[in-house]
Amino acid sequence: MTCVLAIVPPGLCKFKDIKWLDLSFNDFEGSIPSCLSNFSNVQLLDLSNNGFSGKIPASTFSNVTSLSYLSLAKNNFSGIVEFRSFAHLSKLKEFVLSDNDLEVKTEYPMLNSTFQLTVLGLSNCKLNKDTGGGIPNFLYSQRELMVVDLSHNHLLGKFPNWLLEKNQKLEVLNLMNNSLWGTFLLPLHCNRTGLLILEMSKNHISGQIPSHIGSLLPNLQLLNMSRNSFLGSIPPSIGNMRGLATLDLSHNTLSGEIPVELAAGCVSLSTLRLSNNSFHGKIFSTYLNMTNLYFLYLDNNHFVGTIPPSLFNVSMLWRLDIGDNHLSGRIPSQIGGISRFSAVLILRGNHFNGLVPFEICKLRYLQFLDLSDNSLSGPIPSCSNFTELKYMHLENNLFSGFIPRALSSSSSMISLNIRHNYIDGVIPVWIGRLSRLRILLLKGNNLHGHISNELCQLKHICLLDLSYNNLFGSLPSCLSDLTFGRSIFLDDFNSGGAYLYLIPSFNVYALDIVLSEATNGLREVGFITKRMENYYKGGILNYMSGIDVSCNQLTGEIPCEMGLLSGLHSMNLSYNQFAGPIPSNFKNLSQIESLDLSHNKLSGTIPPELIELNYLAVFSVAHNNLSGRIPDKSQFSTFNERSYEGNPLLCGPPLSRSCISTAPIKEAPEQDENEDDDNIVSFYCSLAGSYLVFLIGTIGVLYFTSQKHATCFLHIVDSWCAFRLYKLYGLFSCK
Ligand SMILES: *[C@@H]1O[C@H](CO)[C@@H](O)[C@H](O)[C@H]1NC(C)=O
Ligand SMILES: *[C@@H]1O[C@H](CO)[C@@H](O)[C@H](O)[C@H]1NC(C)=O
Ligand SMILES: *[C@@H]1O[C@H](CO)[C@@H](O)[C@H](O)[C@H]1NC(C)=O
Ligand SMILES: *[C@@H]1O[C@H](CO)[C@@H](O)[C@H](O)[C@H]1NC(C)=O
Ligand SMILES: *[C@@H]1O[C@H](CO)[C@@H](O)[C@H](O)[C@H]1NC(C)=O
Ligand SMILES: *[C@@H]1O[C@H](CO)[C@@H](O)[C@H](O)[C@H]1NC(C)=O
Ligand SMILES: *[C@@H]1O[C@H](CO)[C@@H](O)[C@H](O)[C@H]1NC(C)=O
Repeated sequence: MTCVLAIVPPGLCKFKDIKWLDLSFNDFEGSIPSCLSNFSNVQLLDLSNNGFSGKIPASTFSNVTSLSYLSLAKNNFSGIVEFRSFAHLSKLKEFVLSDNDLEVKTEYPMLNSTFQLTVLGLSNCKLNKDTGGGIPNFLYSQRELMVVDLSHNHLLGKFPNWLLEKNQKLEVLNLMNNSLWGTFLLPLHCNRTGLLILEMSKNHISGQIPSHIGSLLPNLQLLNMSRNSFLGSIPPSIGNMRGLATLDLSHNTLSGEIPVELAAGCVSLSTLRLSNNSFHGKIFSTYLNMTNLYFLYLDNNHFVGTIPPSLFNVSMLWRLDIGDNHLSGRIPSQIGGISRFSAVLILRGNHFNGLVPFEICKLRYLQFLDLSDNSLSGPIPSCSNFTELKYMHLENNLFSGFIPRALSSSSSMISLNIRHNYIDGVIPVWIGRLSRLRILLLKGNNLHGHISNELCQLKHICLLDLSYNNLFGSLPSCLSDLTFGRSIFLDDFNSGGAYLYLIPSFNVYALDIVLSEATNGLREVGFITKRMENYYKGGILNYMSGIDVSCNQLTGEIPCEMGLLSGLHSMNLSYNQFAGPIPSNFKNLSQIESLDLSHNKLSGTIPPELIELNYLAVFSVAHNNLSGRIPDKSQFSTFNERSYEGNPLLCGPPLSRSCISTAPIKEAPEQDENEDDDNIVSFYCSLAGSYLVFLIGTIGVLYFTSQKHATCFLHIVDSWCAFRLYKLYGLFSCK
């Protein structure tokens, strides 16, 4: 027997004369109570935001003819709903079926509705899925609509401009995420122009934005036309929308300059998003009258010129993104005045040059700073004010000098990317204090000196790229203390804010329109693995981990503790001078996908245990002094000779050099192996004097060859620090 707590109490059925029945925002489950059909006087029936499931029988609503408000939204109702079964509810005004698992049919048979609705919510209702997904025809006879939500339905057809014409009281029209196409036609005149929210993003609407949009809809507060195919320029009439708080035209093919009228007239804008278009000209070359602007996104356009001083009269900016344009000149010192609150500053991908003004340090609430891909020179901004900074991306500039000590006060830092600059000096010892650091990319600078043990304090690091520097000395064995993916923090890369947009008229339904906004904007970070530069962004970073120290002058043995990094996905130690054996406990790198040890001075054999690395997709030990048989089982059967070239003493497939078959010298414990093609016998051999092995351990390989084509390999596989025990693993193959 299950105990269902969330059932509608049966006693409810006795109250069949009540007028209001509001069960919303509970945890009720099960099917819709059948006694509802007896509630012939009920005017308001709200079952929304529960866990009701099952079909919605037409009979439930056959007698409830007093109903004026009906909401079944946000439940788990399923099946097909014929709109016809509500047609007789002549008093119905507000009707919401959104966000169930329903398939709603409005067309056949013809619906002769007796109602005049004010609120209609059919979001995510697979509307008319079988009959071509057109906009419901019954809407042609509606005159009183105030809120219409047809979003997320695959609706086909043109923008229903007649809805505006016929419904003079329309305030909210949400058509987001459908398949509407054709040009965006608006009525030429409307008697009353009260539309507040027009959300038509994510459709296939094309052509120009109607030139009279601003005079026809002067009261709009939100206009989202993003992710369509609009072209042409922004009509100047937009400046009439003095109450417009959110304007999103991003991801279209709009061009032209930002009209003066927008800058001077849309005085209420708090979010302006023009990203990913082809706008050109200067940004806000004129007077800017937006004192409430919090979010300004102009990235990925063709804007030119400098950052206009007028922008700094906007003292409220939380986020300024003008990345990926053709802006040039110096970053003005007024930038330090933009806001006491600014959290995100993205100027990447422009042609800014010269020094970064020290006033930038005044942005002491900055969390995300991206100045990458410019021509900025001089020292890295040295701001002890940046205590909230989480992401600092400065890659591809001309920055020189040291990594400033002031950054040690940015203890919130998650990602520090200084790739490809001219930074010299050593990796600072204080870097260990940035204990939240997950990404440290210092590739392609002039850093020298040792990799200090302090780096091992960065316990949460998941991407560490020190490649292309002049680092020397050995790899600290304490690197095994680092996390590299062994612990997972889900939130760091998904920071984002959301705020609620309220419209003044009383419509509870409209509160559902939640606009997410703001600091969600971590730029991808580049990291080479599997021989390709991959860009990682957002949550995926929680699952990627790698270390790259390639192209330095590191020496010594590869610490076998590195084998303890069991969460690591990628390791690149290539182009250094590492010597000694490949640690056999690399077999514990159970997540490794890419392992590059090429261009070093490694010796010994390729530990056969590495065949246990099931995810290994790219492997290279090319250009070392390795010897012996190449493992050829599991993943190793997929690597080609390029993985092994430049090691004259390696043999076996995929190399053409075969390991010459020979008869065993000593007793063979595994007789089956005698039948192998190569007639090779492998066995363990415990040397009596194992300290001898210790002595020769660093030599790694003894290579005998006789005139009688007898070749003997002596492999030394060390488990070095893990066990403090040395084994001799001998593979004798002598004829
Ligand atoms: C768009 O709508 C479809 C249903 O028609 C839904 O599955 C999908 O998740 C929606 N996409 C977005 C981005 O909301
Ligand atoms: C606009 O108002 C005029 C009179 O005020 C009326 O005759 C006309 O029908 C109205 N137009 C619409 C589309 O309702
Ligand atoms: C506009 O719509 C797009 C796509 O539906 C959405 O991603 C974006 O957040 C919306 N813009 C605003 C400012 O709400
Ligand atoms: C700037 O906006 C204010 C209202 O916020 C308005 O009074 C003023 O006239 C505007 N200035 C211009 C030049 O449009
Ligand atoms: C900044 O605003 C002041 C008035 O608040 C105005 O006099 C000045 O011209 C504005 N500066 C710019 C560059 O727009
Ligand atoms: C931030 O740094 C700037 C420049 O270094 C300095 O002028 C300012 O006083 C500092 N502000 C705070 C609050 O520390
Ligand atoms: C390792 O680094 C070198 C030099 O940066 C690069 O050429 C190579 O492709 C990298 N290896 C892998 C497997 O990504």
